[in-house]
Formats: sequence, C-alpha cells, structure tokens
Amino acid sequence: MMTRALGAHSLARDLGNWQDDSNRRSAARPAYRALAEGIRLLVHDGRIPLGVALPSERELASVLELSRTTITSSYSVLRDEGYLISRQGSRSTVALPHGTRQNGLMFRAHLPDSDNSVVDLSYAAMAAPAEAVEQAYSAALQSLPQFLPTHGMEPVGIAALRDVIAERYRRRGLDTAPEQIMVTSGAQHALRLLLSVLTAPGDRVLIDHPTYPNALEAIRRVGARPVPVPIRPEAGSSGAWDLDGVRSAARQTAARMAYLIPDFHNPTGLCLDESGREELSKIARETRMMLVVDETMVDLWLDAPSPGPVAAYGPGKGSADVVTIGSAAKSFWGGLRVGWIRADPALITRLAGARAAVDLGTPVMDQLAAAHLLADDELVLARRRAELREQRSAMLDALADRLPDWVPTIGSGGMSLWLRMTAPVSTALAATAPNYGVLLAAGPRFGVEGAFERFVRLPYARVADDLRRGVNGVAMAYETLAVDRDLGEPRLVI
Ligand SMILES: Cc1ncc(COP(=O)(O)O)c(C=O)c1O
Repeated sequence: MMTRALGAHSLARDLGNWQDDSNRRSAARPAYRALAEGIRLLVHDGRIPLGVALPSERELASVLELSRTTITSSYSVLRDEGYLISRQGSRSTVALPHGTRQNGLMFRAHLPDSDNSVVDLSYAAMAAPAEAVEQAYSAALQSLPQFLPTHGMEPVGIAALRDVIAERYRRRGLDTAPEQIMVTSGAQHALRLLLSVLTAPGDRVLIDHPTYPNALEAIRRVGARPVPVPIRPEAGSSGAWDLDGVRSAARQTAARMAYLIPDFHNPTGLCLDESGREELSKIARETRMMLVVDETMVDLWLDAPSPGPVAAYGPGKGSADVVTIGSAAKSFWGGLRVGWIRADPALITRLAGARAAVDLGTPVMDQLAAAHLLADDELVLARRRAELREQRSAMLDALADRLPDWVPTIGSGGMSLWLRMTAPVSTALAATAPNYGVLLAAGPRFGVEGAFERFVRLPYARVADDLRRGVNGVAMAYETLAVDRDLGEPRLVI
C-alpha cells in the first residue's frame, strides 16, 4: 500500500499564520521551533492524519520561503518528540508520541456543590415533539388492521412509507421511485448494512475528520479502515471540505467507499455548498468510489437550507455512485428507530438479501407512525428549528461569558457546536466534567488515532437553562485542569 503524502501547499495552508502566532507568544522563539509547534498542533487537531508522509524538506522550504536548515531542524524536533517516524529509504510519516492517547493525568474529584442533577451533553438528540408523535402513533394504530392479515415482515419496508420517502426526495429535486428506497431501523443500521454489502475487511473508507463516532465504530467493526480527510471549519461552507484531499485520498488509498455528512455535519454543523456537491459527485464517478451521504441532519437547517441532495448533482443526475442515508431520528424522535437508504434498485435488492442475517424488517407500527410524521412535517420541523436557534444562542452566550477563549465552529444547522479549546485536554475534561454535573463526549471520539484533543462537541439539543448549567459545569471542570493559556499545555492539579 502506497503511503499517503501531504503536499507542501496543503501543509502551508493549514499552518496559516504560524509565524505570527509564535511572535505573539515569544519574539525570541526560533522559526524551526515555531514551525514544529504548528505541525504538532495540526497533528493533535486531526488536520494532519497519522501515517501520512510530510512534504520533502526541499519542497516545504521552497513553499514556506525558509531555509532548508530550518525545515530540517523542525522535522528533527518533531522526530525527537515522537511526532515523526523515519524509516530507511522512505519519507518520514506522522505519528503520535507513545502514550499520548492515555495522557495519564489524574484529577482531584469534586462533587457539584448543590445541584447534583446531571446535564448530559454527550448526546446530540432532542426530546420528541410529544403531541405530534402521539398523534402519529394514534393514526398508525388506525391503519394497522390492514396489515394484520399479512405476515408483517418486509425487508425493504412498507409501501406507504417508501412512497412518502420517495416523494420527499422528488420535492427536493431528486427523481426517486419507491423501488429505490429501503426502510431501515435508523441511519446507523443503514450504514452498517451498507458497509456489510459494499466493503470487505481491510478496505479503505474515506471519512470526514471529525465525524460521527458511531459511524467510525461501524466502519471498524466490519474490519474496514477509516481514512480521515480533514474538515477545515475556518474555511466556511465553500472550503471546509477539502475536496482535493478527498480526490487524492481516494486515489492514493483506492478507497471502496466514502462516508460523508455534507448536510449540517455532526459535529461541526457545516453544510457543503452547491459547487462542492457538484465536485463531490464528480470525484465519486472518476474514482469509482461509492459515496455514502448521511443526510440524518438535513431537516435541521437553522440559517439556510441545504442546497439539495448530493445525489442530484453531477453529470448523470441520480447517479448510481451516490447512496443516500436518511433518518427520522433527528427530525422527529430517536425513539422511532426509523431510517432509510436511497440507492439503485439493484443495490436495494442486495441489501435486502443481506438484511435477513441481521433482522427481518422494521416494526410496522413505527413505519406507519414515521409515514404520518414525514407526510406532514412542516409545522413540526419549523418549531424544532426555532427551538434549536434559540438554544444555540443561549449556549453561545453562556460560552462567551464563561469560556471566552474557546473558538466555536458555528455551522448553518445541526445540533451542536464544535469548539477549539486553548489546550489539548479534551479527554481529561470529559473525565473531570461529571464531577461538575456534566457528561461530555471528548474530541478524540470524533476522530481516529487520538486526534482532536483540543476539541470538544457541545450539543445544544436541550432547553436553555440546562445548557447554561452545562456550560458552567464545563467551565469549572476546565479551570481545575489549570490550563496555562500561554503554553497551551495541561498542568497536573493534585
Ligand atoms: C450523522 C449521524 N448519522 C447517523 C446517526 C444515527 O441515526 P439513527 O438514530 O437514525 O440511527 C446520527 C445520530 O446522532 C448522526 O448524527
């Protein structure tokens, strides 16, 4: 297998203003040290995937307009610190120093002072719109008798629901027949089925980096290998997806499949723009890589709706190279356990065959309820979006007040903020936060190989009061880590 190589221009772009930053901190810091630090932070942030080769010293010196000696010294610092591994006759590849993933920090246990009810910010999921869900199940009960004379098990789903789902795609500009739809027990089930049919152990699967943690787990469980392609939040919707990176990673690793979340991405909330969608479907076609697009969050646009399904873009609209996953979990309620796959009818048939080894269909009552909710969704979704907008502002206000140094990515939808902290202490923070009444998912859960120690996801899927309490707890936990803001390193508190 060919080693993936990082281009000098890509690295220069990701390093951004590394020199200015080092000047601010210490005018006396030599350039080679500042450069090594810049690269080290990119590794921790998941911007440089582990195992890729850094640009040659000559190439990087030329792009950064530095002397070759500076680059050699920088690489040598990184090598000494364990961030670069050199093998004879090949380029140095990026690594994490031994023991980084378990950083061994220990913390004093604190109990919350008075209020010991826990704010669970480890899930990005809302409570149900109770009235609408109750009505949907009442209607489902009315429709149930017509199914009772049948055996009730349908691997592709009941016709009534497949019709509604196909109609929703058509409304969004993507011609779809019910034969292209398979109902699943959630989007996670959909992905797992697709992985089992489309990949074999050892196959590469491209992923957004960061990405949805349970998707990563599913990829690993089938023995496939996730290939991270960094998301760049600071580049905004037009540049956050490094599509050149997707193309070159697809070519260099001969990936079978890409699993991407271009619609209000979990955890950043970013949304890929039109030209990006066009380009993505072109890449899938050129590289013969199956593109699996997870649209679980698509209804939760807060600032602007999604430009449209990725499968509707590109030269052959409705392309067989793009498979779309959907779900009722975020739009309505996770407890419904209803999701779906939109794909070529031939693939739907293969998936239905594979499904029998796992389950024999999604419960009819849940499918009927989902059909009612999806067929008449406008009011419920408008309310949900309004709630999320309000909650997002409440969380941003609380953060500005309690953790003003943290930098949030504010995507145009979804349910969570992805925050860059001033120090790489995410795992320690998640371990300490329960002592302050908050549950958190640490940044590294959203990436591979220990990346994202400087990041944390905070969902705003709860009422504003809970969010304020949650942020307060996170801030108190962060303070105990005694972060030295200048050095950006954690210090042990005994
Ligand atoms: C991007 C993404 N995909 C899939 C899922 C799982 O969806 P479901 O509950 O339909 O299995 C989630 C849930 O958080 C998600 O955020």
